Amino acid sequence: MTIEPNYQLPQQLSTGAAEVDDLYMFVYWFSVIFTAIIVGVMLYSIVKFRRRPGVKAAPVGHNLKLEVAWTVIPLFFIVFLFHYGFKVYVHNAVAQEGALEIRVRAQKWRWEFEYPTGMRVNSEVKIPVNKPVKFVISSEDVLHSFFVPGARAKKDAVPGMYSNVWFTPNTKGPMQVFCAEYCGTSHSGMLATINVVDDAEFQKFLKEGEGPEPGEDPVAWGKRLYTKNACNTCHSIDGSKSPGPTWKGIWGRPESFVDGSTGKVDENYVRESILKPQAKIVSTFVTTQMPPYTISDKQIDAIIAYMKTL
Ligand code: CUA
Repeated sequence: MTIEPNYQLPQQLSTGAAEVDDLYMFVYWFSVIFTAIIVGVMLYSIVKFRRRPGVKAAPVGHNLKLEVAWTVIPLFFIVFLFHYGFKVYVHNAVAQEGALEIRVRAQKWRWEFEYPTGMRVNSEVKIPVNKPVKFVISSEDVLHSFFVPGARAKKDAVPGMYSNVWFTPNTKGPMQVFCAEYCGTSHSGMLATINVVDDAEFQKFLKEGEGPEPGEDPVAWGKRLYTKNACNTCHSIDGSKSPGPTWKGIWGRPESFVDGSTGKVDENYVRESILKPQAKIVSTFVTTQMPPYTISDKQIDAIIAYMKTL
């Protein structure tokens, strides 16, 4: 059943969402009705059989018929609920044949997506509308959870194993991805956007990768890449304390590193730090938790252009 987004459920953005919502609403009303009945009988009994002066309590004996009834009837309900829930679970667990496969790597604190072409993007992906997409998920460090509320899809990213989830998006536009498993300081900033686009735009994206928007200058593009690649979850731009060095006044800043060496923030340092964050760790940070990024030199140039303005 198609529902309007409400305080309980967000907009249905995939073909399987309605089925999940029907199950949810069924379990919800099932629980509401039975809670009302059970609490109702309890309240009635509390009032009706309360202690009163002059009335002696009569011990309750055994009632076989009643006991069989309250065992067998709920059993049917439970079996039905299990069957219904399992059916929907299986629909959402087994990907449709021919689904586009996207590798998802979770790492503190960003999502990396890899297409069958080998192209990798961070935090903002495109997928084609009305085509099944299967996400094969893994984690590089701790437990995370890949959660796409609009598609009613959620799957844990577990270190040391693969898990997967799939759906067919049926509405063009953005879908929000959250991390639904607490994974450390910037857990709440571990976000991504899935942009559902038409097939032509998706093919173009696969071929050309990410470039600046039409008319966007390098600084503006770099600024966009800063949030898009989730740099902002660990690097502030206002000098406030964050898990990584702030970008405020970063350009040309002298730094000393944990290995005792010193250097200055320039193009080569920035490039190396993005591609190999372990290489030089600023001494006030002891270790790095930053994952290596695979982004193009053009994108690095744009980020550098943006850094220079801070
Ligand atoms: Cu990743 Cu929470």
